[in-house]
Amino acid sequence: MKRPYVIDELITAKAIAARIEELSKEIKDEFDGTDKLIVVGLLRGSFIFIADLVRELDMPVEVDFLEASSYGDEIESSREVRILKDLRGTIEGRDVLVVEDIVDTGFTLSHVVSLLASRKPARIKSIALLDKPTRREISIKADWTGFEIPDEFVVGYGIDYAQRNRNLGYIGTVRFN
Ligand code: PRP
Repeated sequence: MKRPYVIDELITAKAIAARIEELSKEIKDEFDGTDKLIVVGLLRGSFIFIADLVRELDMPVEVDFLEASSYGDEIESSREVRILKDLRGTIEGRDVLVVEDIVDTGFTLSHVVSLLASRKPARIKSIALLDKPTRREISIKADWTGFEIPDEFVVGYGIDYAQRNRNLGYIGTVRFN
């Protein structure tokens, strides 16, 4: 049963949009000249971030999705990353950008990057909108991070609490009553 909670705004929609504009410039510089970039969104949390990010990348990109889950409906990570849906296409010889909504313990990003690296892409980079460095259990950092945030439970802009609140346009913190 979900406990009653309220949501306090932490990062506004405007701040997210501005940061994505900055990050997309850096990504375009990194992948300048490539016509084989495949942007891989980790479902479900990254679906809004990847949609906004790829629209700022005015370069040839393909989009694919992979679904990994370590939380289910729980607040704590199970530390077991399950691949629920694999990529549609192959990535051998391709440039890959993995798009995460949030890096918390690091288990998900670490597992997914190792898995995809084993498929021999030409280059693999990662971007996370949010990073909670104080929660890290595995030493990994995305190549680009939107915002470092404190150890608060966040929702919105794709991120859920028990599958709710993904549709908020901003990032908010959950405060239990
Ligand atoms: C959440 C989030 C990240 C991951 C981060 O996914 O979207 O993918 O956990 O946590 P970690 O760094 O501790 O591994 P979740 O398993 O809740 O699935 P979802 O994206 O479908 O909400």
